[in-house]
Amino acid sequence: MDNSFGHFSEDGREYVITRRDLPSPWLNYLTNGDYLALTSFQGGGFSSYLEQRFNSLTRRYSNIPQSDLPGRFVYVRDQDTGEYWSVTGHPVGECDSFRSVIGLGYTRVETEIAGISHQMTYFVPKNPQSDKEGDQDPCEIWRLTVSNESDRPRKLRLYSYSEWLMGDVEHDMRFSPFFRLFKKAEYRGETVFGTAGRWGAPGDSNAPWPYTVFFTSTRPPVGHDLSTASFVGLYHTLASPRAVEQDTLGNQDLFEGDDVCGSLVWDLELAPGASESFDMILGLVPDDAPGFQDLPLKYRDPTVVDHAWDETRTWWDAYLGGLEVDTPDAELNRQVNFWNKYQIFMTCSFGRGPSYFHADQTVSMRDSLQDSFGMIPLDASRARENILRTMSFQYADGTPTATSNRMGMPEEPSDKVDLPVWLALVLDDYLAETGDWDILDVHLPFFDEGEGTLYGHLQRGLNRVSSDCGERGLPLIGRGDWNDALNGVGIEGKGESVWLGQFLSYAFRLASRIAERIGDAGHVDEWRTRADELEERVNAVAWDGEWYVRAFDDHGHVVGGKDCDEGRIYLNAQTWAVLTETAPPERAEACMQAVFKHLLNEHGLAANWPAYTAYDPNIGVLSQFPPGKKENAACFTHAGAFNLVAMAKTGFGDEMHQAYRAMLPALKPQPHFRMEPYIFSQYCAGPDSPDFGQGAFHWMTGSASWMFRAVLDWMLGIRPQYDGLLVSPCIPKTWPEFRVVRTFRGSTYQIHATNPNGVNTGVVSVSIDGADLPADQLLPIPEQPSTLAVDIVMG
Ligand code: GLC
Repeated sequence: MDNSFGHFSEDGREYVITRRDLPSPWLNYLTNGDYLALTSFQGGGFSSYLEQRFNSLTRRYSNIPQSDLPGRFVYVRDQDTGEYWSVTGHPVGECDSFRSVIGLGYTRVETEIAGISHQMTYFVPKNPQSDKEGDQDPCEIWRLTVSNESDRPRKLRLYSYSEWLMGDVEHDMRFSPFFRLFKKAEYRGETVFGTAGRWGAPGDSNAPWPYTVFFTSTRPPVGHDLSTASFVGLYHTLASPRAVEQDTLGNQDLFEGDDVCGSLVWDLELAPGASESFDMILGLVPDDAPGFQDLPLKYRDPTVVDHAWDETRTWWDAYLGGLEVDTPDAELNRQVNFWNKYQIFMTCSFGRGPSYFHADQTVSMRDSLQDSFGMIPLDASRARENILRTMSFQYADGTPTATSNRMGMPEEPSDKVDLPVWLALVLDDYLAETGDWDILDVHLPFFDEGEGTLYGHLQRGLNRVSSDCGERGLPLIGRGDWNDALNGVGIEGKGESVWLGQFLSYAFRLASRIAERIGDAGHVDEWRTRADELEERVNAVAWDGEWYVRAFDDHGHVVGGKDCDEGRIYLNAQTWAVLTETAPPERAEACMQAVFKHLLNEHGLAANWPAYTAYDPNIGVLSQFPPGKKENAACFTHAGAFNLVAMAKTGFGDEMHQAYRAMLPALKPQPHFRMEPYIFSQYCAGPDSPDFGQGAFHWMTGSASWMFRAVLDWMLGIRPQYDGLLVSPCIPKTWPEFRVVRTFRGSTYQIHATNPNGVNTGVVSVSIDGADLPADQLLPIPEQPSTLAVDIVMG
């Protein structure tokens, strides 16, 4: 689909934006996994290292994301006429031509303004030799080419601009008059260095921020400015900075006690037809990492930048390769093969936030484990690292922290009840993918004191959740489960969650399966019994005739039942009944029919229906969102993706494909959808909203992992098991065939499935390298890494 704002490149690996007047600033995440340059299509955005929350290099103006300010800007001034502009067309004025290419690992903005053309490429170098945290150069590159397209010689002056936060993003938003007092910048060796003498981080609030920011270039500057106030000027704005308009430069050697910008200035004299290129480098040096002290110097050599560009491209190609799908749906192929994998890298690296919708970077155990779930088939060792890090945020009694971070900072305990349960699902999947049973014995610290194995963490988490059950025998919902916004249902300690009952039952079943494999006989039975009990309880109390209710509040009222005027049916209670196999077959069929009848629509699947229209303290914040927005009956992609799995499990291949396409961002009508057409957003407004179909909360969502796994594992049906690979597709009847190339336990499976009779499900024959295999048998794992040609016939 070619919407009026741009299109995908022929090979699907780039999104080419051809207009500046997008419905919102579409972003790219330029990162090596540690350093993040969140970059809009026109150079807006901000940069951070590991944690935007504590370690922001540059500032964000979070209250007005649509301004797309500040960012990483270069202004150009024609020294003969005094006319000035921005190389990316932002934040100053108009362009004669504009194109922005969102690539996998880079953004390239091409403009022509006042007879000068500019090409600016932003990227973050990735070390191809190592994925280890700390082995990545913490910096970003701005590659600029400026060409004189006019027929007269041009004398141009260029000014870079970025606003240096240097520390904690919340402090900057709330207390910037205080925190700016501790900022300091120095100019030496054609480089600007910035430090912050006070961090205010949890723990030791007096400590200085332990990093130095730098900005340098491969071209000698002719001037500089260290002060935001001096660069922008009194009563000027970023669209008309005084330094550029009046060509006034601070040229300070040292500047302290106010907001810092690391501006360098260069002169270019260009004959007609002439071009000049150079690179700018923004980054930071950790004060306690001697290996990084030479980082600014290293990148001042243009050949180093060239090399970094080549290596980074190669690394992204490798990450995105290795697992490929080829179905009759070209848009699905492009999303799965490139953009969905790319988005999973971002969620797995940075959790929730940073984005133009999230306040800062906070990620709960629930989110982080689901992000790892998406990463498992792509890069299991990256997923492993994320799982282990995440689980070190659990106290000895099994309570998780509310959020986690990558810097060992203190966190508070969570008041959400479901967080540790996700480990069972993700761990089971990781074990099936890798066969790495040793992970269970890895010792991890508890967040308070002591340590235990990962398997021990699983036990403690499950015990914690299951020991808090209500009078119906279902888990207490407290201040919310997966649905954070149902935070009024169990506030008095009595409300119970049906969804969590279903999930916990399943988690116990998975844990029991793991226990069986490792010979932990005691737990096998105990956990199976717990699973059976919960399953029995859910079915005894939560079936409402046509679907499962979602919860019971503190006063015993049903949430999500046929007698509720608002919030009559909730998607998750139906989805997870099927997904966890807690529903008997006839109920599974019935509740899916209820989903199709009440929740499926042209924009996806509503999280519940009808929307709440007034605050209900027994529901919570969910009822305060506008009808049809967020958890209040929006088409919630994350919950919709769970349901795709349930559709596959109940054999609804046509509906599944239809719902997938309804959620596919590339097919969303613009400008109404607003969000990027190349990544999944958390939700779009539901049918009860006047904005039905309008997207929000882009990029950082569990939808990325689940949309990917829904296609790979459930639509194409290729599912790792402890002892082999299961193939059990659920596709639209109209698909005559599909192919998947997938690595599994070191071997490559080249799978070709044909569908001669036009079915949704069912496999009648399987062969490997021409030899038949019983259709119900797992694809075996060869002793030696091999390539296997697998033919599947559906019917
Ligand atoms: C957001 C949160 C996630 C939660 C969901 C529903 O996506 O990140 O943790 O489950 O909203 O409330």
